[in-house]
This record gives sequence, C-alpha cells and structure tokens, in this order.
Amino acid sequence: MRILLLNGPNLNMLGTREPHIYGATTLGDIEQALVQRAQHANAQMVCVQSNHEGALIDAIQREQATINGIIINPGAFTHYSYALRDALSAVSCPIIEVHISNVYKREPFRHHSVIAPIATGQIAGLGWRGYVLALDWILGHKESPGTHH
Ligand code: DQA
Repeated sequence: MRILLLNGPNLNMLGTREPHIYGATTLGDIEQALVQRAQHANAQMVCVQSNHEGALIDAIQREQATINGIIINPGAFTHYSYALRDALSAVSCPIIEVHISNVYKREPFRHHSVIAPIATGQIAGLGWRGYVLALDWILGHKESPGTHH
C-alpha cells in the first residue's frame, strides 16, 4: 500500500503557528508518526507539504496511479480551491480531509469546504491525531490502486 499525505499552505509552520489553535506538534512529528505507523502495516507514506496550490495538484497528478489513499489537510485552500477539488475529484482512491481544528466552531468562512463533497470522509477538531485516525481508516480499507471510494 502507498498513501499520499498532503498538507497545504502554512501547515509547515505547525508547532509555532497559533499553538492555542493548532497545538505544539510539528509537521515533522506528524509525518514521522504516520511513516512509522504505515511501516508497521507494510505501507509506504509519500509526504508532501506545499504553500502553492499548483504544487499540491502536481503531486496528486504524479502519484494518483500508484496510491491507495490520500490524506489531505488543504489548509485555507479547503474553503475556495476549485482547482484542488477538481484534481482530487479525478482520483479514484479514498480521500480523507483532515483539519486539526474544529473549523465549524471558528470563523464563518471556515465552515464551508469545497473539498468535502468529493472526499470520502472528513475529520475535524481532533488535533494532529486526526491524521493518525485517517491513516488507520485507509489501512483498514484494503483495496487496490484505482478502485473506487
Ligand atoms: C485547517 C483549518 C483551515 O481553515 C486553515 O486555513 C488551516 C488549517 C486546520 O487544520 O484546522 O490552515 O485546515
């Protein structure tokens, strides 16, 4: 199994960015935890973070033929990137949208996700452990590359 972890803009700043909202855990910590957990299940993580919409889309297009699942925290792109949504929509493996914070109890602009309608599921408000829960779900969802949600 091969799983793509995508993190969008500003998530490289986890640990120092608004820790009262996003916690003290760094993106490096999260990626390391997922890589280790995946290894135990004989799965491989491909970890990509970018502040650039096009770089995230490039990663999806590059990896889509060989992956069994996507875990994505699109950051603020969640709320308005139709380009990212279109790229994800063309992928046939499960897609889990993760938000560290509970976006629904924050500012109104965070209440709407353009990604959610094409995602398999969404986890919000459970902190960095949301990524782990998403990985566990994908690891339990044994299907081959190219199979549908
Ligand atoms: C976020 C929530 C988004 O609204 C915000 O723009 C982020 C992080 C989260 O993980 O809670 O960058 O996706």
